[in-house]
Amino acid sequence: MSTFATYPSLAGMNAFVTGGATGIGAALVKAYAAQGAKVGFVDINADAGNELCQSLRDAGASVWFQAVDVCDIHALQAAITTYKGTSAPLDILVNNVANDTRHDWRDVTVDDWDRAMAVNLRPTFFAIQSVAADMISRKKGAIVNFGSIAWKAKHGGMPAYTTAKAAIHGLTRSFIREFGTSGVRVNTVLPGMVLTARQLAEHYSEDVDEILKQNQPMAGRITEEDVASLVMFLSADDSKMCTGQEFTLDGGWL
Ligand SMILES: NC(=O)c1ccc[n+]([C@@H]2O[C@H](COP(=O)([O-])OP(=O)(O)OC[C@H]3O[C@@H](n4cnc5c(N)ncnc54)[C@H](O)[C@@H]3O)[C@@H](O)[C@H]2O)c1
Repeated sequence: MSTFATYPSLAGMNAFVTGGATGIGAALVKAYAAQGAKVGFVDINADAGNELCQSLRDAGASVWFQAVDVCDIHALQAAITTYKGTSAPLDILVNNVANDTRHDWRDVTVDDWDRAMAVNLRPTFFAIQSVAADMISRKKGAIVNFGSIAWKAKHGGMPAYTTAKAAIHGLTRSFIREFGTSGVRVNTVLPGMVLTARQLAEHYSEDVDEILKQNQPMAGRITEEDVASLVMFLSADDSKMCTGQEFTLDGGWL
């Protein structure tokens, strides 16, 4: 049984998560369900998304999933509209989706650059565009955008990804004055090294513990659930005066 906090203000709330089928996104979907919130999510991975959705429904949660490539903004916005049609209004939006495929700056083409922005930056703006007007008119809403410590830690080998992530931090702060007067909050979460299945399969091998020892003062590994806990706090009324901030969860890496 989880020893993490339960937030009364999240019960019955309605959250939407991008990239929710695996990794940190899946932990977010499970955490909202565990809080008694309703949750909708999109992901390009239809099999993992359907499986997660069904398993949570079987356990009695209110969960909705649609397979969407977020690079297709019309499809993303249509999915949000469909979800709002089944379970309006939306109280919480988490812009989690990303793809941190490594790339050498020498080889990046204009198409590669545009693709990196299309998955790592553009969906965050257009998802916010789809939900903010309702939140503003209801004078309530929490938006959490995912940034990264990677660019602050001067991580090389993926400049298009790190540029997009740096822009997310600016995007968060671009909304806080306009939205804040209506009680809508926008924050950025910066995970450190979270060894999701994909991270382990694609980026790290046996040197993981050595990398952690050199860079992360706190012992142990940051889990997807640790990140979800922070996002639950930022979604709940417990953080009702937090907006425009960067919340770093990196075991002291930066
Ligand atoms: N894991 C880390 O160490 C780490 C560190 C810093 C920041 N972050 C950020 O945390 C967030 C989650 O990261 P993660 O490690 O869980 O990622 P991940 O790669 O493990 O999972 C990403 C999810 O997004 C989905 N996705 C990818 N491209 C998509 C597309 N075009 N359309 C729809 N869905 C798509 C994937 O299928 C997957 O379910 C990201 O914003 C990432 O930048 C992660």
